[in-house]
Amino acid sequence: MGRTSWVHFCCVFCLILLFLARSWLPLGKPERVGCPGDTPWCTSKNHIYSKSGLGLQTQVHKSTDHSTQIPHHPLDPLTVQEINRVRTILTSYEPFSSTFPTIQSVLLDEPEKPLVLGWKGGDPLPPRKAAVLALLNGQSHVLTVDLGSGHVDSHVVNPTSGYPILSRDDILAASRAPFSNAKFNESISKRGISPSDLACITPSAGWYGPDEEGRRIIKVQCYSAESTPNFYMRPIEGLTVTVDLDKKEVVKISDTGRGIPVPRSNNTDYRYNAQEKPVGMEPLNPISIEQPKGPSFKVEDGHIVKWANWMFHLKADQRAGLVISRAMVRDSETGQLRSVMYKGFSSELFVPYMDLDEAWYFKTYMDAGEFGLGAVAMSLVPLNDCPRNSHYMDGIFVASDGKPFVQPNIICLFERYAGDIGWRHSESLIHGLEIREARPKVTLVARMSSSLGNYDYIFDWEFQTDGLIQIKVGLSGMLMVKGSPLENINQVPNQDDLSGSLVSENVIGVVHDHFITFHLDLDVDGANNSFIKVNLEKEDSLPGESPRKSYLKAKRQVAQTEKDAQIKLKLYDPSEFHIINPSRRSRLGNPAGYKVVPGGNAASLLNHDDPPQLRSSFTNNQIWVTLYNKSEQWAGGLLVCQSKGDDTLAVWSERNRPIENSDIVLWYTLGFHHIPCQEDFPVMPTVSSSFALKPINFFDSNPILRTAPAFETDLPDCKPSSSS
Ligand SMILES: *[C@@H]1O[C@H](CO)[C@@H](O)[C@H](O)[C@H]1NC(C)=O
Ligand SMILES: *[C@@H]1O[C@H](CO)[C@@H](O)[C@H](O)[C@H]1NC(C)=O
Ligand SMILES: *[C@@H]1O[C@H](CO)[C@@H](O)[C@H](O)[C@H]1NC(C)=O
Ligand SMILES: *[C@@H]1O[C@H](CO)[C@@H](O)[C@H](O)[C@H]1NC(C)=O
Repeated sequence: MGRTSWVHFCCVFCLILLFLARSWLPLGKPERVGCPGDTPWCTSKNHIYSKSGLGLQTQVHKSTDHSTQIPHHPLDPLTVQEINRVRTILTSYEPFSSTFPTIQSVLLDEPEKPLVLGWKGGDPLPPRKAAVLALLNGQSHVLTVDLGSGHVDSHVVNPTSGYPILSRDDILAASRAPFSNAKFNESISKRGISPSDLACITPSAGWYGPDEEGRRIIKVQCYSAESTPNFYMRPIEGLTVTVDLDKKEVVKISDTGRGIPVPRSNNTDYRYNAQEKPVGMEPLNPISIEQPKGPSFKVEDGHIVKWANWMFHLKADQRAGLVISRAMVRDSETGQLRSVMYKGFSSELFVPYMDLDEAWYFKTYMDAGEFGLGAVAMSLVPLNDCPRNSHYMDGIFVASDGKPFVQPNIICLFERYAGDIGWRHSESLIHGLEIREARPKVTLVARMSSSLGNYDYIFDWEFQTDGLIQIKVGLSGMLMVKGSPLENINQVPNQDDLSGSLVSENVIGVVHDHFITFHLDLDVDGANNSFIKVNLEKEDSLPGESPRKSYLKAKRQVAQTEKDAQIKLKLYDPSEFHIINPSRRSRLGNPAGYKVVPGGNAASLLNHDDPPQLRSSFTNNQIWVTLYNKSEQWAGGLLVCQSKGDDTLAVWSERNRPIENSDIVLWYTLGFHHIPCQEDFPVMPTVSSSFALKPINFFDSNPILRTAPAFETDLPDCKPSSSS
């Protein structure tokens, strides 16, 4: 409404690298690119705001035809044809031939590590297998299906507590179930809400003792979508329906919030065209990174990414979301490809809310194992989710009838120049030298965003040419809010009695945490690695030894067993955490290593015997190291829904296996405490935190010493076009 139209622009803001130094000598003979107005990359192609509709059009990039795709690499996800074959095999598999189970998950059962490591391009692929989670008559079936032989290799029923990941059909059926219940209808009508305005969500039930055991259950809570697409801000408070997922019927209705008004819809719409003009803010000129010569990365056979000195396998996984495998970096002296990480992904996501109310206590989500981080990832919005120079990748997922479907454009891959500096030094005439040396930092980012109901999680894996991998999680989307009679904070004697903050009239943003636990199977120059804690200890000087009274000393300690590697981060007892290869030594004899570099973080403070913490006990420490075991991928267990915590990372670590000079997996948990505030309404500005994996004595010296600076002549000479 009354927006300025999006004009075509040529290079209004191209990749502009500004270096103040004039003392560089051009090293080579950079080619001049120029910026004629008609070169394709100079033309604005994407008009992504529709003028008539509300909000963004979601898709510009056409996804590829997957129907005839074949796998090229042992770690390639199952193809459309392979998923269909799994279904065919299961249809004629004896226990299922009369009744086909509901399929909760079908993922590639990755080949044993030695097979993958031994595989070379052009070799036949190791046997392709599928890991299947299915449900039949309330029992969880865990199967491995061999696609080549057509046989079921293994089949276990109910291996642990808990049920498989929820399917789309589960969620759909559950959200409809309350409508078959007269008591629910009555409660809705007593609150004056029209059934056609209801939007119902399905919070997982967690596990809270014997009452809810022995059947799959889920909670359903509804919101009013009247006059707003942002129904999350209009809770029908205190109305909680417990649904039996298999019988698709209501087990229990708790209706406690009758006196609580449904918050009004004013100012809840977050779509662009619903907004008034911003106050106090001048609009920004369009900005974009352009690559006149195209991207510097290649994606081969659909999944192998090659960029600068990096090579890795990238895929979308219905449960884990974005998966990086076989990450290797070239040695800066020999050019040889060296292994850094066999596999990295977000293994579980724990989100406990801090409210004991009947309608709230169970809100302690384990989103990866209950809903799937890939399953809820939707196509990314070009120019806004990802810059124009992005390459997009689809996810091939499986529905509950066992049939494949394509989730288009859920990963984007792009080179980033954020104006940062890779390295620099200036020298002044005081030392008789006038030197300005600086290098722009250009990185490669693989991104996915998972929309878990109200919340959006943005997962970034960023690769740097200096060998560092930065893993960042951004949180945006809507708060999960609680309806309240309060319209102003003056109406309560003590604000601290609330379970959160008043973020709008009648809307409380409840205090909660987010914990994302990453599985990081680092294989630094090979599988056999050790975990070293390098503790910085304060020492006191001896009397008369020095004018100084105290200093710090780095003390190395090799973790012998898994328990030695259960780490809580401490500011006043700091350590570095290294994964090293004891048999790969640098010129100077230092072992090649990578360290995990924590950033902003938060720890779970719940009691260890609190049911949600028991199930998510993988958050009891920020770092764990376990012996590699192909079956131990999911920090919260394979079967997470209503699990009791008998198959978690904490349980595996308690086995206390020896881990020195062995194939080990590092687990890192990135946490956030969130005390909401008014700025989080009606949609939250992104909050991010990250950690890094950084080479340590891995390279013999600075691996980006010899990289070239950017020159004016490398880049088109861009002038703002006259806007009309
Ligand atoms: C509840 O209301 C819905 C929507 O109006 C209706 O379709 C359904 O039949 C009602 N259920 C019962 C049990 O009355
Ligand atoms: C909310 O919107 C309604 C309907 O547009 C309007 O009548 C009311 O005054 C608004 N309330 C506030 C507080 O802005
Ligand atoms: C790792 O160490 C084990 C035990 O010493 C040994 O059997 C194995 O061959 C080693 N693996 C590699 C890849 O070097
Ligand atoms: C591998 O992990 C599974 C699941 O935790 C466990 O049952 C099995 O005993 C483990 N194998 C070894 C060799 O530790």
